Amino acid sequence: MLMASQVAYRSIAVDRVAGALGAEISGIDLARPLSDEQRTELRRAWLEHLVLFFRDQPLAPEQFMAFARSIGRPVEYPFVRGIEGYPEIIEVKKLEHERVNFGGIWHSDTTYLEHPPMASILLAREVPPFGGDTLFANMYLAYDTLSPGLRASLDTLKGVSTSSKADVSKTREDRIRSDGKDEARQSYQAVHPVVRTHPETGRRSLYVNVAHTDRFEGWTQAESEPLLRMLHEHQVRPELTCRFVWRPGSIALWDNRCALHNPVNDYHGYRRVMHRITLEGDRPR
Ligand code: OGA
Ligand code: MN
Repeated sequence: MLMASQVAYRSIAVDRVAGALGAEISGIDLARPLSDEQRTELRRAWLEHLVLFFRDQPLAPEQFMAFARSIGRPVEYPFVRGIEGYPEIIEVKKLEHERVNFGGIWHSDTTYLEHPPMASILLAREVPPFGGDTLFANMYLAYDTLSPGLRASLDTLKGVSTSSKADVSKTREDRIRSDGKDEARQSYQAVHPVVRTHPETGRRSLYVNVAHTDRFEGWTQAESEPLLRMLHEHQVRPELTCRFVWRPGSIALWDNRCALHNPVNDYHGYRRVMHRITLEGDRPR
């Protein structure tokens, strides 16, 4: 009998890029409306591989929005204004003279919101001649590779996420200065289960991240710190990750409910410009 993961795809080609997560999708033109079969198969591949990569898809903003809408509902990012005419598309960029890259730390997007985004889609416009890759990590595997005893304890805990942890705040400052919304000075906080159940796959994943998780609910920061530090080290072990090398027109679509990401800041002196859309998510549970 075929396992679910072995059911063939008819409308797309799916090639895994690593043992932990990530698949490159080919044989599809995202500039055109997707057929029902393509949509269904992309969803299946995405849920199985957590992050999908596409090459040579230099979508115009309208086409990028249409692709995003075929997967979910685009939402605005609280801190940075969208590009002209498209409030849900933000520019994620690092300029030649800048030293800090946007989101340059392991994280899941905006977990300090009550309803963090289900997914994020990044489309590369300009890439440096080397470097600027993005790392991803599989949080189902991070959870599954902990001991049964620790898993059982974590199942009972909640984590407090805040938008104002120092290491991540400084990665937004250049963009807030150039494209910040008026309300960008606001601070957000949300409490979510440390282990969440994916609403579509039913699988449990570790839902803490070093950028936004400040402490366990009901614990002090000092009490939380040793266990959080251990989890942050564990959750990005190399064998839980994959790495994507961008080209102009490359797209990554990742599932924030079960994956972390981290853009590598190794291209000082060069520009990197991406367009990003985030898709509405439910309340983690
Ligand atoms: C993001 C982010 C990743 C990158 O846009 O959410 O973290 O590769 N950026 O720039
Ligand atoms: Mn991010």
